[in-house]
Amino acid sequence: MRSLISPRLLLREWEEKDAAFVLDMYSRREVMRYLGADPQVLTDLAGAQARLTAWRDRQDDVHTVWAVQDRQTGRLLGTAFLVRLLSSGTPLTRADETEVGWHLHPDAWGQGYATEAGAAVLSYAARSGIKPVLAVVNPANEASQAVCRRLGMRRVGSTDRYYNMTCELYST
Ligand SMILES: CC(C)(COP(=O)(O)OP(=O)(O)OC[C@H]1O[C@@H](n2cnc3c(N)ncnc32)[C@H](O)[C@@H]1OP(=O)(O)O)[C@@H](O)C(=O)NCCC(=O)NCCS
Repeated sequence: MRSLISPRLLLREWEEKDAAFVLDMYSRREVMRYLGADPQVLTDLAGAQARLTAWRDRQDDVHTVWAVQDRQTGRLLGTAFLVRLLSSGTPLTRADETEVGWHLHPDAWGQGYATEAGAAVLSYAARSGIKPVLAVVNPANEASQAVCRRLGMRRVGSTDRYYNMTCELYST
């Protein structure tokens, strides 16, 4: 169990009982709109459970997909992850490079939680010897690019190497 702690947050592994929250969050267009080349909102619990399974499949000794929760109240806020990027192609294939990412429930936007969770994940990556860590962001996703900048990541350029889409590429 690779939990991480920051001043306001606990990052813990996802559990089956979180499927309802996953459905609530990823059924929202405003959450999904910049994720991947062909974003599909979740429509049922089976889809949420499949997503939990897919996240587990992307984990290894170091790479992890965390549930982000409020340390004080236990309220779930979203997802933070450190995973191998997926290279463009059909199907997508696992790349050697590692990416950091963040998805928050809209109720948790505008409070610095993504930046706080991202900082905890980048510290964990540094402790684990993973360097550099990349972030790939839809060019229209200003909020996420602002998180990258707050974390001190630098924009490297634009790339279509990952996820069958053109992304802004940031690096630690
Ligand atoms: C990307 C996403 C996580 C950014 O969320 P966010 O709330 O803007 O980012 P943060 O959690 O870092 O919060 C920063 C905001 O909180 C404010 N804030 C309030 N209290 C704060 C605190 N204690 N510390 C830092 N910032 C704080 C900041 O001023 C900033 O607001 P602003 O953008 O109006 O200036 C969110 O838009 C999202 O989940 N989108 C859908 C999924 C997605 O696209 N993910 C990225 C894929 S690449």
